[in-house]
Amino acid sequence: MEKNELVNYIKQLPKAELHLHIEGTFEPELMFEIAKRNNLSLAYDSVASLKKAYQFNNLQEFLDIYYIGAQVLLHEQDFYDLTWAYLQKIHQQNVVHTEIFFDPQTHTDRGVSFETVINGIYKALKDGQHQLGISFRLIMSFLRHLDESSAFETLKQALPFKDWIDGVGLDSSEIGNPPSKFERVFKQAADHGFKLVAHAGEEGPAEYIWEALDLLHVCRIDHGNRSIDDAKLVERLAQQQIPLTLCPLSNLELKVVQDLKEYPASKMLDKNLLITINSDDPAYFGGYLNENYIALTNNLSLTPDQIKQLAINSFKGSWLNEVEKNKWISEMEQLIPTKN
Ligand code: HPA
Ligand code: ZN
Repeated sequence: MEKNELVNYIKQLPKAELHLHIEGTFEPELMFEIAKRNNLSLAYDSVASLKKAYQFNNLQEFLDIYYIGAQVLLHEQDFYDLTWAYLQKIHQQNVVHTEIFFDPQTHTDRGVSFETVINGIYKALKDGQHQLGISFRLIMSFLRHLDESSAFETLKQALPFKDWIDGVGLDSSEIGNPPSKFERVFKQAADHGFKLVAHAGEEGPAEYIWEALDLLHVCRIDHGNRSIDDAKLVERLAQQQIPLTLCPLSNLELKVVQDLKEYPASKMLDKNLLITINSDDPAYFGGYLNENYIALTNNLSLTPDQIKQLAINSFKGSWLNEVEKNKWISEMEQLIPTKN
């Protein structure tokens, strides 16, 4: 296929997104609008100067600015608007299912109530389901740079909203905050019936992926780039078909990889790993889901069959039930004959 045919092929494929931080979809234009209506000022005087600051050498440099941006979110309507803007965006990209993270501690630590945050996000997700036909799951993520007691407190705050929250995750500064720090919190979350995921092996070593699997008992690994360093781990991930939620543009912008030409996706597909493509924090990393697929396709010369496999994997790795998964997968197999 020609390059533009491949781009069109990517655009029309139905896709699921499995690794997306809703606070990371906060576009500068909306950030300024919400700051203004909340009578808050940002440390930057314009959208252009804010965007100029989006140059990161590592995860921490990004997180520092990401937490500052989130500070203008105060009211339920703010969280609704943030989530609604993301849903409208992905609707145009044929994303039909999304599993989003939210970081309650980023907001509760500033005095915004858990209820305010989740009400806004959940109402927008329900509206997206009814008006745009986008199905969803919601994942509450613990900030791993904070201590265990703060995570336990957050879990307690989540219990009245248990029916709205499908799983828990672990994000923020990875190095020095291994999964083992949250073993007891994850055990309690599992006892309450939450599904479990964790960021591991983005900047941290393969060892953290082992810990996420064996100590936290996660069913999916967020990022997991470093798994490729460890042949035994690759064998385990392939054998158990544990999904990895890769985020190519995020990895490039945070210097997890220096060049997408060296991205391990083709190698991982060859090793039968269940990899998926995701956008992580699209407002900060220069692209939503389609842009991630396109960048990877251009750099790795992916074939239409490999692209389709990635989209199929996004449903396989999702928390949709088997009937829903099979519906999407068989629809893709029937409607889209591929020619390489
Ligand atoms: N890694 C860790 N924490 C995060 C990320 C990420 O990619 N995005 C938002 N919080
Ligand atoms: Zn992430």
